[in-house]
Amino acid sequence: MFGNTYQGKKILVTGNTGFKGSWLSVWLNDLGAEVYGISNGIPTEPAMFNVLDLWGIVKHHSIDIRDSKLLSDCIYKIQPDFIFHLAAQPIVATSYHDPVGTISTNALGTVHVMEAAKALKKACNLIMITSDKCYENVEWLYGYREIDRLGGKDIYSASKAAAEILIHSYYHSFIRHSQNLRMVSVRAGNVIGGGDWAEKRLVPDCIRAWTKGDAVVIRNPGSTRPWQHVLEPLSGYLAAGQYLAESDKLNGEAFNFGPSADQIFSVKEVLDSIAKHWNLLASKEWVKVETGSFHEAGLLKLSCEKANVNLKWWPVLNFTQTMAFTSLWYKEYYDGKNNMIDFTKSQIMEYVSYASKKELSWTM
Ligand SMILES: NC(=O)c1ccc[n+]([C@@H]2O[C@H](COP(=O)([O-])OP(=O)(O)OC[C@H]3O[C@@H](n4cnc5c(N)ncnc54)[C@H](O)[C@@H]3O)[C@@H](O)[C@H]2O)c1
Repeated sequence: MFGNTYQGKKILVTGNTGFKGSWLSVWLNDLGAEVYGISNGIPTEPAMFNVLDLWGIVKHHSIDIRDSKLLSDCIYKIQPDFIFHLAAQPIVATSYHDPVGTISTNALGTVHVMEAAKALKKACNLIMITSDKCYENVEWLYGYREIDRLGGKDIYSASKAAAEILIHSYYHSFIRHSQNLRMVSVRAGNVIGGGDWAEKRLVPDCIRAWTKGDAVVIRNPGSTRPWQHVLEPLSGYLAAGQYLAESDKLNGEAFNFGPSADQIFSVKEVLDSIAKHWNLLASKEWVKVETGSFHEAGLLKLSCEKANVNLKWWPVLNFTQTMAFTSLWYKEYYDGKNNMIDFTKSQIMEYVSYASKKELSWTM
């Protein structure tokens, strides 16, 4: 898989204790990598990192990426072959309560990671994870392309747009002249899957409420989002890392990863699908709708043609499979199954087998 790129390599995952970072760490470990992590703590209770007991497979360092000295000393000691930079304040609602923390983590923290990489004495490939929210949302129907305008009305979106602008300038100012470094930025949207317990996200909010027997409170049941399983962007990030390691053709490029246009569903459809797996009593009201109090962008769809053509990347799961993967993971956990790491690995293998049937080149 991934041309054996990650076998025996030192891979640093920032944000390793988070939802995407935990899945990525498990997959990298399965690919034979030596996984290092940098995060400022465990973001939720429960957290996938603890549920899977990833302390055993990740060499974890507890560091705030806003502390440039501690961060660069740690990265220098690790001397990684790859850095997947995921550490961020990722919640739109939180960005309204903590704008400065969001901007300093997402924009300046990203700069600190690139500064630390500049000091490395060996080849290193940087995969910088931002978000689909980096695009200025003009509420159009078309998929945003990597060349579309960046921006954001809310602070989270602005912090990710700022990170993208800084990544672009670091590439032109330093990285493209470097003998050692190559870098891409990667933009994905609403990711779902088992193991996410973040606040103010639809699926975790729903699971939290329904496991307690409460109704979930949502804002806009009719809102459509490009939901995708967490393994979809991760396969894209790993494919991008493979291409970077193999040639400098894609150095400095940005890539979108999203579901195909016919796989965009509403909040209500997501909840209905989880409800089917959850066997809820029909007699009770399980969803309450309240009016939102902050600006939230409407539909934001990504055009993934650049990833299709350059990385030969395509989404693997349809909406039904995505919802089944997600619901079954949580069911397994809440039914008290102990070996969640094996279950997580089995979902990765199932995903890979679907991708192999589609003959996606990263499966080789
Ligand atoms: N989950 C999604 O739907 C989604 C969508 C688009 C983009 N993203 C991006 O993907 C990345 C990972 O998201 P996630 O869903 O796993 O988030 P998460 O909240 O589950 O994890 C965030 C991680 O970053 C770490 N972190 C936060 N602030 C830090 C700081 N100051 N210093 C060091 N570490 C810090 C946390 O400890 C945690 O490990 C983020 O960059 C996020 O913006 C996520």
